[in-house]
Amino acid sequence: MTKSFIESSLTQEDPSFEIPLRPQTLQEFAGQDQIRERLEVLIGAAKQRGDPLSHCLFTGPPGLGKTTLANILAKVMGTNIVVTSGPMVEKPGDLAGVLTNLKEGDILFIDELHRLNRVVEEYLYPAMEDFRLDLMIDSGPSARTVQVKLNHFTLVGATTRAGLLTAPLRSRFPFTCRLNYYAPQVLETILLRTSRILNLNINVEGAREIAKRARGTPRIANNLLCWVRDYAQMRAGSRIDRSVVIHALEMLDIDEVGLDEMDKKILEVMLQQFEGGPVGLSTISVAVGEEGHTIAEVYEPYLIMKGFIKRTPKGRVVTQLGRQHVEQKQKV
Ligand SMILES: Nc1ncnc2c1ncn2[C@@H]1O[C@H](COP(=O)(O)OP(=O)(O)O)[C@@H](O)[C@H]1O
Ligand SMILES: [Mg+2]
Repeated sequence: MTKSFIESSLTQEDPSFEIPLRPQTLQEFAGQDQIRERLEVLIGAAKQRGDPLSHCLFTGPPGLGKTTLANILAKVMGTNIVVTSGPMVEKPGDLAGVLTNLKEGDILFIDELHRLNRVVEEYLYPAMEDFRLDLMIDSGPSARTVQVKLNHFTLVGATTRAGLLTAPLRSRFPFTCRLNYYAPQVLETILLRTSRILNLNINVEGAREIAKRARGTPRIANNLLCWVRDYAQMRAGSRIDRSVVIHALEMLDIDEVGLDEMDKKILEVMLQQFEGGPVGLSTISVAVGEEGHTIAEVYEPYLIMKGFIKRTPKGRVVTQLGRQHVEQKQKV
């Protein structure tokens, strides 16, 4: 199956497009005021003492700014950042290779931390706590451990699935924050900033309309803007206003609250085949022909945030609001 616009926006990154748009400082990072303030304190205090930053964990749905924040931390602290991800660190040796190369204060960014293998994870504990690695040398009777001292580094972890992290790993982060979906007004500011960087001819109403449909997610907002730019270039003399946005997004089957075909399919299947639920994730997954983890990561969090479905111990249930949204669509 081909991925929808929303799904590919959230599961694939396009560095050539994203990197120029990525905020470089906390001041440029829009919204998430509470997190920004906490980070200002954390960074300010560490800098004043001349200490490396303490380990930080960023959680929350894809496209909300976790990678961006990790890069901002490095920039503000004036340190290097080494980037890897859970599935890339396969063996303890891989981890040792990365850790022993870190200099004092360097940031190690591990994306998709929930996918780190459990054996590797055990090696990470003493590294995070005491900045040492206990490596096994040889095997059999001559096996012994040697301790390697590490420089004081900062681990920055990111995960879309905080619930899948083990408790011991989670507890080793002194600083954790959960990124939430952005309000449309904040997305509007982000879109206007992106438009300035890309030199687009857009008015405030146009940006506002994209913001409403961007699922609270900066990455989707920017990707939608990119599509609208192409549409406007071909059909509207490159001028972006509200009506151009509406037509451009209709072409992608994205409705006025940002739901796409897969969201609608999920709601419809739950209503029509399961009387609104409760229904388990794996059943939904089979019924709509989409992978369970994609539903859990890409679609479900937004449907829950909008109040269209809720999670219960017995499974997912469509709410009254969700029912109304589907019925209203069927009428038109
Ligand atoms: N607070 C923000 N202000 C402005 N742009 C943002 C913000 N958060 C994210 N972005 C934009 O969205 C894109 C995706 O963010 P990213 O950090 O890659 O998300 P995540 O790592 O959580 O999936 C970035 O390239 C950046 O352009
Ligand atoms: Mg990321």
